[in-house]
Amino acid sequence: MEKFQVNNITLAYERFGRGAPLMLIHGFPLDHTSWSETTPLLKNDFDIILLDLRGFGQSTTIEIPYTMSDMADDLAGLLDHLEIEKVALAGHSMGGYVALAFTRKYPQRVSGLGLISSQAAADSSERKSGRYQTIRDVTQKGVGVVAEAMTPKLSADVRVQAFVRPLMERQPPSAVIGALKAMAEREDLMSHLSTVSFPVTLIHGSVDMLIPIERAKEIKAVIPSAGLVELQGVGHMPMMEASRQTADGLRLLAG
Ligand code: MLT
Repeated sequence: MEKFQVNNITLAYERFGRGAPLMLIHGFPLDHTSWSETTPLLKNDFDIILLDLRGFGQSTTIEIPYTMSDMADDLAGLLDHLEIEKVALAGHSMGGYVALAFTRKYPQRVSGLGLISSQAAADSSERKSGRYQTIRDVTQKGVGVVAEAMTPKLSADVRVQAFVRPLMERQPPSAVIGALKAMAEREDLMSHLSTVSFPVTLIHGSVDMLIPIERAKEIKAVIPSAGLVELQGVGHMPMMEASRQTADGLRLLAG
């Protein structure tokens, strides 16, 4: 991967393909490799930018707490570095929270938004306190506790499980803790979404155990023009469980 310095971190990224710029943002606690079954299907349609969010994969992080808005600034820094003014963003789950924060802070730089297995609502108080409990568990026992708890919830497909578990186990505790805090404290962006003017595509599995498909339907209710790709029998990892339909959904952002 290529690397550069921004906002006191080193950010790792890859760029390939041809067409309109599309930035793919991975979920928690994964890295850019989670897209590797989908990007071959999109590289003739898009100038693809893949990154590792701060702390994950080959990117570094900082100890002090940070927010989704700080991670959105990392994306803006990457676009500046690549001299790209406007981009379509597609975020998987937590990557969707970062993409949403970006659309709020830099709406003029967004040509389209894809939310894959994600949501615009903030955490319930129960989910928020669960995240702080997970932070305590990771601090005491390491990242393995997250990998163990999340693997069966990400997908029922054993092939996907065999890929994501070691990927999660490799992520540093500092990244997992930093992202958990940022997710717990993120804003509710449902009302922001009702104001956007760029195309929105929602891609969601019908049996997602982490973020139910109702969250995507709620967004569709506030943006009736949004495309909603419902993937029957698919869990939280559409880019691996249904890569072709996911690519077809993202192609709607080609403009
Ligand atoms: C993710 O897959 O990125 C996370 O499960 C999202 C979340 O915990 O809200």
